[in-house]
Amino acid sequence: MSAANHAGNGKITVPDILSRKASLSSLENQPHKKITCLTAYDYPTARLLDEAGVDILLVGDSLGMVVLGYDSTVPVTMDEMISHAAAVKRGAKFSFIVGDMPFLSYQTDVKEAIRNAGRFLKEAGSDAVKLEGGAEMAETVKAIVDAGIPVMGHIGLTPQSVSKLGGYRVQGKTARAALKLLDDALALEQAGAFSVVLETVPDRVAELVSKRLSIPTIGIGAGVGCDGQVLVFHDLLGYFDRFSPRHNKRYANLHETIVNALSEYRREVEWRAFPTAENSFTIGDDEFAALVHALEEAGERVSSAEGVQA
Ligand code: KIV
Repeated sequence: MSAANHAGNGKITVPDILSRKASLSSLENQPHKKITCLTAYDYPTARLLDEAGVDILLVGDSLGMVVLGYDSTVPVTMDEMISHAAAVKRGAKFSFIVGDMPFLSYQTDVKEAIRNAGRFLKEAGSDAVKLEGGAEMAETVKAIVDAGIPVMGHIGLTPQSVSKLGGYRVQGKTARAALKLLDDALALEQAGAFSVVLETVPDRVAELVSKRLSIPTIGIGAGVGCDGQVLVFHDLLGYFDRFSPRHNKRYANLHETIVNALSEYRREVEWRAFPTAENSFTIGDDEFAALVHALEEAGERVSSAEGVQA
């Protein structure tokens, strides 16, 4: 992304993100750019997303599933999140970085929540934090925001509560559940959140909620009516062949590309096609002759094949 895309030093800020919602309401009939968000867990990925001009890099606790190999996001620790968020920070110049608060880093008490949210800013250089939950989290969200830390909410399918929800199911499918979702979104807005993720929610419900909020909604499996979209980096690029959730679109098939490249490397090493002279370093003829001489003086026989340049 060029620095010219944004005010000041080009780094995206909370007001930039909020203004994308404002442009929705003020320029009703004009095309406007929606907010883009993708997950990132490391330095090289952050560089790629930053260069591609993605607005928000979410250091998601999906880290646990797509990078660390856990079955759910529940085991992820604060220390793991901080280490990955810091790496993302080192790779991103312009994108806005959101650190995802892992399970039990904010649910136990408000002071603990502020302390852990603060670690993302102090230790990892994140710009904001995200946490899961609606009205029941409003007090915590308000306390974190009052401490000067921007908060992104997350409602609908909240993976940290997957046990309680009975699996990875669509949320807000009944009128009653949809009303609860709207109440949760409004409670987060009221508490000071600067945006809300709506995950796996019927498209019409997500649009209805989006229209009733003054802060942007970022959808994942929530249709085109949200103010922005987020996907998991590994899903979007087809990094895994195992599974692609319905909400995902694969823009590449990295799994196949990488396995093909690795197999070619293995074949070339096995059959001596790699490395070639191009990938190797040389010693001068005189020095090599002196080495052979020294070994022979020491009583070693040096075979004629040794030192023959391939
Ligand atoms: O952890 C994560 O990746 C997320 C997004 C999918 C919203 O919370």
